[in-house]
Amino acid sequence: MGFINRSLITCLIILLVFTNTRPISCEKDDDPMRERYRKWMAKYNRTHKDDNQREKRFQIYKANVELIEAFNAINDDYKLADNKFADITNAEFRKRYMGLKGSSSRVPLLDIKQNEEHSEKAREMLEAVPEKIDWRKKGAVSEVRDQGPCGACWAFSAVAAIEGITKIKSGRMVALSEQELVDCNMIDDGCYGGLMTDAFDFVRLNGGITTQSDYPYQGQQGECKTSKLDHHAATIKGYRNVTVNEQSLLKAVASQPVSVGIDASSMAFQFYTNGVFTGPCGVELNHGVTIVGYDTDGKNKYWIAKNSWGAGWGESGYMRMKRGVEGNLGLCGITTLASYPVV
Ligand SMILES: *[C@@H]1O[C@H](CO)[C@@H](O)[C@H](O)[C@H]1NC(C)=O
Ligand SMILES: *[C@@H]1O[C@H](CO)[C@@H](O)[C@H](O)[C@H]1NC(C)=O
Repeated sequence: MGFINRSLITCLIILLVFTNTRPISCEKDDDPMRERYRKWMAKYNRTHKDDNQREKRFQIYKANVELIEAFNAINDDYKLADNKFADITNAEFRKRYMGLKGSSSRVPLLDIKQNEEHSEKAREMLEAVPEKIDWRKKGAVSEVRDQGPCGACWAFSAVAAIEGITKIKSGRMVALSEQELVDCNMIDDGCYGGLMTDAFDFVRLNGGITTQSDYPYQGQQGECKTSKLDHHAATIKGYRNVTVNEQSLLKAVASQPVSVGIDASSMAFQFYTNGVFTGPCGVELNHGVTIVGYDTDGKNKYWIAKNSWGAGWGESGYMRMKRGVEGNLGLCGITTLASYPVV
């Protein structure tokens, strides 16, 4: 404070003294921010068509960084960072990186408030599951992938769940193909959105799904390579929906990785870098991820969510999300569209 006051006063004095000679700006200098932006651009290999584009992106970057720093100064649960999404607006982020089809949640209207009977049942169920689980430690989770600017989150979420149950049941970890789902599952809209349950149905009806290396990810929808459809590296019998409450989700995750829909549209989600995410977020589902475990730290119970925005986002591609929130929907609506494949 003292420093700011003194420099303001100095500035005023300079103004008063030199008003007649030349204009002096008292505005804060942008140069440290421009320098920071230059370093960020180098780190993320950004180039721009022209100076206008560059200036436009710089202004967005600057506004985002200011928001990130203000947020970090007051939030202890989790932190934000100027990650690879730092030069796009939240509206652009929502448009490019979500991808769950709308109007699909299973929230029973009457069930939104938790009742006594429900929590009694929940307590019983709680007793039957381990205190914590992390399927990554059991080799049932493959490396984090990157959907790129293509709304195929639903395919990544479903594939991670199928890889998980395949490893748990057969002992084999096989990286499976999201691209097969994006190209060949005609019920969904490829990069323009889909549902994990449709992906499970596709794999069941097709008799299986091929490997990542046989049908690699392209980041855009292409023609279905029909010759790959009878390459079956993993098969499933179908899928089950999880009842809409956190205890049922807990029980399901204790058995295998589970696909969930969430509301990931907030700026806090866009710039999340580490800690236990506690919101803010709504419950309007727009993104699919896979829950691969749960645990507790000193302060919060949390879910471990595997995302598909590359290993540079969040905690090496993962987010810890607060568990045990009021009501049945969970944080960001995490319980409202949960499902898992059955083999
Ligand atoms: C940037 O480009 C370099 C060289 O092509 C590459 O090694 C690096 O992984 C790229 N970084 C990112 C964040 O894409
Ligand atoms: C699971 O939930 C979805 C979304 O509400 C629904 O369309 C589907 O029929 C359900 N599937 C099963 C197997 O219950």
